[in-house]
Amino acid sequence: MSMIKTMEFRDGKLFLLDQRKIPIETEFFECMTFEDVDFAIKDMVVRGAPAIGAAAAYGVVLAAGQFMGCDKLEFLKRMNEACDVLYASRPTAVNLMWAVKRMRRVFDDNLSLETRQIYEKLKEEADEIFKEDFATNKKIAEYGNTVVPQKACILTHCNTGALAATGYGTALGIVREAFYSGKDIFVYADETRPRLQGARLTAWELVQEGIPSKLIADSASATLIRDKKIDLILVGADRIASNGDTANKIGTFMLSVVAKVYGVPFYIAAPTSTIDFDIDTGKDIKIEERSAEEITHISGVRIAPEGIEVYNPAFDVTPAENITAIITEKGIVTEPYRESILKLKDRPKN
Ligand code: MRU
Repeated sequence: MSMIKTMEFRDGKLFLLDQRKIPIETEFFECMTFEDVDFAIKDMVVRGAPAIGAAAAYGVVLAAGQFMGCDKLEFLKRMNEACDVLYASRPTAVNLMWAVKRMRRVFDDNLSLETRQIYEKLKEEADEIFKEDFATNKKIAEYGNTVVPQKACILTHCNTGALAATGYGTALGIVREAFYSGKDIFVYADETRPRLQGARLTAWELVQEGIPSKLIADSASATLIRDKKIDLILVGADRIASNGDTANKIGTFMLSVVAKVYGVPFYIAAPTSTIDFDIDTGKDIKIEERSAEEITHISGVRIAPEGIEVYNPAFDVTPAENITAIITEKGIVTEPYRESILKLKDRPKN
């Protein structure tokens, strides 16, 4: 069972397992201020939709610690500014906005308290987000395991494991659940250019737990799918629109197209906090574009000529019609997504 600790709030500081360094080093990055958390999210010390949500929640706690000595008006002004900064630290994964909104509600609802008491309330809420996420992942894994055959070859993209959340993971959580429930599974992990979350992070999690697997170049997946080597594809999500269109790591859309052509089931696994009920379709999802260096350099070494222009979107949108089902902690939903997703909004967890 996974014991990977992605983050810990201790002695008034947030310690984040530095995902830029895995698998070469396992070091923690210390955040003392909300600005440190903002940097950590932008630079991908912490990444993965649920993980950045939880980290941002602790970022709000750090901000409250920083401004606790101010008078109430100043405290509120500074807290609002800190929330705005954290909210905007990455644009695509909606869990980040969801977590910051949830934290903002806590100080809005407790304005009459002393700043020290508001700090305590915020800390409790961040701890709750952290704990809930782990339980949510476990639920997703249990539902997801019902779609995994007794013997199955699974293809996954990016990292959706313990590292991408507060533990266990979403799509990779399902892989874990299938493995520990005794199923005969084999995993193909896409390396996931350019940040190599598959090669560095998913492969690290798979090796640590002894889950039978192979790492492949992203471009090898179509051949495996065509040659009937893949029984199902499991990926995560950064934002799901009301109609089921889903933003996830760049390359996911391409996989979904090949899967559709060859009739391979294509599943999205995500907590309901990844659903953005306020947007209608995937067209409304803002796609982050990251630096040219992510493409022109590998580990700091230039591999492309100086002067070449680069296009580097970090995510793409998979249309709902390419998705076999969306697996959440509240159950599995299928077409027609507009209706099935809406029903999730108020459905309690089972
Ligand atoms: O850029 P990243 O590494 O934050 O992107 C992560 C992904 O695209 C994941 O698939 C997604 O956040 C789901 S993680 C449970």
